[in-house]
Amino acid sequence: MANIIMIFASMTGNTEEMAEAIAEGIREEGGELVSKSVMDANAFELQKYDGILLGAYTWGDGDLPDEFLDFYDEMDDLQLAGKQAAVFGSCDSNYSEYGAAVDTLIDKLKQLGAEIIVPGLKFELAPNSQEKEECKQFGKQFVRHLAQRKEDNTNGTIV
Ligand SMILES: Cc1cc2nc3c(=O)[nH]c(=O)nc-3n(C[C@H](O)[C@H](O)[C@H](O)COP(=O)(O)O)c2cc1C
Repeated sequence: MANIIMIFASMTGNTEEMAEAIAEGIREEGGELVSKSVMDANAFELQKYDGILLGAYTWGDGDLPDEFLDFYDEMDDLQLAGKQAAVFGSCDSNYSEYGAAVDTLIDKLKQLGAEIIVPGLKFELAPNSQEKEECKQFGKQFVRHLAQRKEDNTNGTIV
């Protein structure tokens, strides 16, 4: 079974480009990944994976994308203690609530008991080639931290 799931929303493709570069990094680092649009996912799937990556652009006035709302509500029924997570998304600094959807998802994951192992990644509109490289590194870092947590838990280290 794949041990990382990535679920994202992208209307004009910018967050999807980030997702693709992150996925590349994860796979290069040897991570097993299932990646899908939030429209094809339900929140209960998160429970089957050790690593959870959520991606969302920000909409309205610092809001989650509409297509994330059902998923976000379903998350309330989850218990994610012991899971490791990270969040990313494309943003636009012309809006006052820059990338607020990323922060909203981080808060929700923490509230449900997940540990955020890599800080949220926000980029302005479409990622350029250097930013895509940073997305790749974000994916690699996620896999490395996930493996480290697993090892710590196996050795009985309290983290
Ligand atoms: C109506 C509307 C509202 C938006 N509100 C915000 C916002 O509050 N904060 C922000 O950072 N970006 C905001 N954005 C910008 C989008 O998040 C940005 O265009 C992003 O790159 C879209 O990502 P996507 O290509 O993955 O759909 C808004 C865009 C639109 C059209």
